[in-house]
Amino acid sequence: MITMNNYKLLTPGPLTTTNSVKEEMLVDRCTWDNDYKSITQKIRAKLLQLAGVDQEKYTTVLMQGSGSFAVEAVMNSTISNRDKVLIVTNGAYGERIVKMAKYIGLAFREYSVPYNEYPKEYEIREILKEDSDITHIVMVHCETTTGILNPIDMIAKLSKEFETTLIIDAMSSFGGMEINVSELGIDYLISSANKCIQGVPGFAFVIARLEKLIACKGNSRSLSFDLYDQWQEMDKDGKWRFTSPTHVVAAFSKALDELDEEGGIPARFARYQENNQRLRERLKKVGFQAYISDEKQSPIITTFLFPNKHFNFEHFYTFVKERGYVLYPGKLTDENTFRIGNIGEIYKDDIEDLCNIIEAYMGVNK
Ligand SMILES: Cc1ncc(COP(=O)(O)O)c(C=O)c1O
Repeated sequence: MITMNNYKLLTPGPLTTTNSVKEEMLVDRCTWDNDYKSITQKIRAKLLQLAGVDQEKYTTVLMQGSGSFAVEAVMNSTISNRDKVLIVTNGAYGERIVKMAKYIGLAFREYSVPYNEYPKEYEIREILKEDSDITHIVMVHCETTTGILNPIDMIAKLSKEFETTLIIDAMSSFGGMEINVSELGIDYLISSANKCIQGVPGFAFVIARLEKLIACKGNSRSLSFDLYDQWQEMDKDGKWRFTSPTHVVAAFSKALDELDEEGGIPARFARYQENNQRLRERLKKVGFQAYISDEKQSPIITTFLFPNKHFNFEHFYTFVKERGYVLYPGKLTDENTFRIGNIGEIYKDDIEDLCNIIEAYMGVNK
């Protein structure tokens, strides 16, 4: 018997998906069968189209596992022992990349700013001027830790100026916001199945500049995390190198169709943006201050400060969950916060309903 949730996820992924996406997982598919391999090839081509890149110059590599697996595969395979990477951080996901660099044994430099601030162009320029060993730059686009939307144009401009390879972790933004990968000169963009394309968890993907990926042959220090090898195998005919998450892949293919039906990335962005603005506006009125200022806020997820010292998140969480919505704890160490994601199958009515529930919790009658 199938039991359905009686709540929706207001989290940064896995997120609330459509029943039709979930239904795709009721079929068992064979990994080497042409029907299945053609799903993989369709997904790879469609992702290039969404990224706005020339299909001759870029390619897509799908990678088993969660988003971090693909980030680690990129760090491990595209940065050789002769290279040095500048890692820009203002949140936990940037810091995770630093950890990966340490595990892999990469030459790296970290440039970090507080979680609610943008990295500064002049400071990064100084680092790049002074440290000519730097060959790669990596930055998270939407830092899901807080919801800050990092200035991708600024880092892309610097990367072009200093002729470095640019790696962008667009895990929680790709599909929900337009990112013109070739115009920005992004060499590797990473995202995963269970974010703004609204699939389910199980694999991640890398949109890679072909010329650069080809030059990575032999760099990898690990078999499973070899992005080049993964691409070579998959590019032949859509068969994955090791066992592929067949159910998840089929669900993702359906999610891509549904993104088109919604009107593509511009329509999805508009829905997320409206959800986010309404949420912030209404919660502000009942005492919830957002941690990130309006101009730096992404349309993906918002961090809210506790409204007062008596606020009990567990109690609040249970109250809201019993009424149909699951929230997310905060990820800051020095401030008491919680987060609300507004991506996935979440519409204006859900946000209004949620805000009514939160207003009731706060003792405000409309
Ligand atoms: C920006 C960003 N990078 C990396 C990750 C890590 O992805 P995963 O938890 O799927 O490994 C996340 C997860 O939410 C993320 O938001």
